[in-house]
Parts: sequence; structure tokens; C-alpha cells
Amino acid sequence: MLIAKAGFTDPLHAPLTHFPIALVIGAFLFFLAAVLFGKKNLEVTARHVSILAFLFVFPTILFGVFDWLHFFKGALLPPIKYKMILASAVIVLLAVGIIMGSELKVRTTPMMVVYALAVVSVVGLGWFGGKLVYGGWSPAPEAVPAAAKAATAPSGTTQAAPAGQRLFAANCSACHPNGGNVIVAELPLKKSRTLASAAAFTAFVRSPKMPNGSESQMPPFPEDQISAKQTGELYTYIQSMLAAWK
Ligand code: HEC
Repeated sequence: MLIAKAGFTDPLHAPLTHFPIALVIGAFLFFLAAVLFGKKNLEVTARHVSILAFLFVFPTILFGVFDWLHFFKGALLPPIKYKMILASAVIVLLAVGIIMGSELKVRTTPMMVVYALAVVSVVGLGWFGGKLVYGGWSPAPEAVPAAAKAATAPSGTTQAAPAGQRLFAANCSACHPNGGNVIVAELPLKKSRTLASAAAFTAFVRSPKMPNGSESQMPPFPEDQISAKQTGELYTYIQSMLAAWK
């Protein structure tokens, strides 16, 4: 699966999104057909489909939040903000549509507007989701120079990816794709003075601070999340990538 290859190993949010998106579009199309061909019963179908969509929205959001906490440590990146607004819009629009549809005489125009806006919202959600996964915000599959492989893989073993690379993909690359910085672009990881020594690097990762000492938007990684051995592996990996990230 492409998305897993891009580092999104949580298997649920991405496939789940297809259900509400398809159902919302389906509800819209059924309602459109009902109006175009004057078939009342298709309005009922549209409403049932939108109820299904409503039910699917919640697990989709839940797993989306899990992915967000895992890959972006809950950082409020712009696409995440837009997704939150759009997801709320979808919930409200579907609920309004379902309630409106329960009346015997459905007013066509407002109903059509509600369904159409729901379609726009789910499409927007998919679009920003795509931006997060493919737009440089997310753990991109990174080419590892042979030197990095040699540095971390014990000779004689055939490891898929060196430990440092896996640690980086799982913990850092969401905010630091290609050694950059999606939150504070002026402070890319690859140019950091904290890379001067492993000790300085580890101290920073344990307790990130802005260069002026003020509070950082980067989450701290305590020992129980990334061990001392692992910060060493991360450091080795990052050093090995500096040339490739230039
Ligand atoms: C949620 C987003 C986020 C994650 C995840 C994240 N960082 Fe950062 N990182 C930032 C931000 C924001 C900055 C800039 C602010 C600062 O320097 O404190 C930063 C800065 C840095 C810097 C440069 C510091 C400087 O001032 O020069 C290094 C080095 C760094 N991060 C390493 C890491 C490593 C290693 C990981 C994974 C273990 C990681 N980051 C995970 C957001 C993140």
C-alpha cells in the first residue's frame, strides 16, 4: 500500500476515509436523480445513504486523530486545522440533511445545497489529507545513502532499514521531511547547530527550546520514548543524511 510506504503505518484512517467520501457523494447523486427524474423514493435512498455516511464519519475522524497524534504529535499544522473545520462541517451538514430529510415535504433547494456542501467538504478533507501524506508534510520515503546503511547495520545482517532511519520516519519526519521543518521553516533540522555533537543533539531532543531559549513547538522526547541508544542511532542517521538533504 502506497500510504504505508510513505510511512503511514496506521492502516485504518486512509482506507476508512473512502467510505464517508463515497457515501456523501452517493447521497448527493441520489438526491440529484430524485430531483431530475421526480422520483420521491430516491430522496429516501439519499437520506439513508447520508445516515450511513454520518455513521462512518466518526470512526474515520477517530483514526485520523490517532494518526495526527502519532505522526504530528498533535501539532496544529495548517492542513490539520482545515481538516478539523471541514470534518466539523461534514458532521453538521449531514446532521442537518438527515433532520431536514425527515420532514414529509423536503424543500429541494436548501436540501440540494446541504448535500452539495457536504460533497465539497469531503472532497476538501481528502485534498488536505493528500497534502499531508504527499505534500512534503509527512514521512517521505527517503533514500538512504550506502554510508548510512553501513554505519548502522551490523555487518552480515540484511536489515530492511537501519534503526536510525526507522526512528526518524516514526518520530521526526512528519515535522522534518528531508531534514526541513514544516512548522518553523527558518529552523530546519539539517542546518541545526544542535548537530554539532551527539550530546548537544540529545539534550535538544530531550528538551527542545527555541534558539533564544523560549518554549519550542517541538514535543520533547523523554527517555521512555526514545532511549539513549536510539538518540545515538538517530544522530548517526541524521549525520549520514546531511549531504542528501542539502
Ligand atoms: C510536531 C513537530 C515536530 C516533531 C515530531 C519533531 N520536531 Fe524537531 N522541531 C520542531 C520545531 C517546531 C522546531 C523548531 C523550534 C525549535 O528549534 O525549538 C524543531 C527543531 C528541531 C531541531 C533544530 C533545533 C534548532 O534550533 O536548531 C532539531 C535538531 C530537531 N528539531 C530534531 C528533531 C528530531 C530528532 C525529532 C524526532 C525525534 C524531531 N525533531 C521531531 C518540530 C518537531
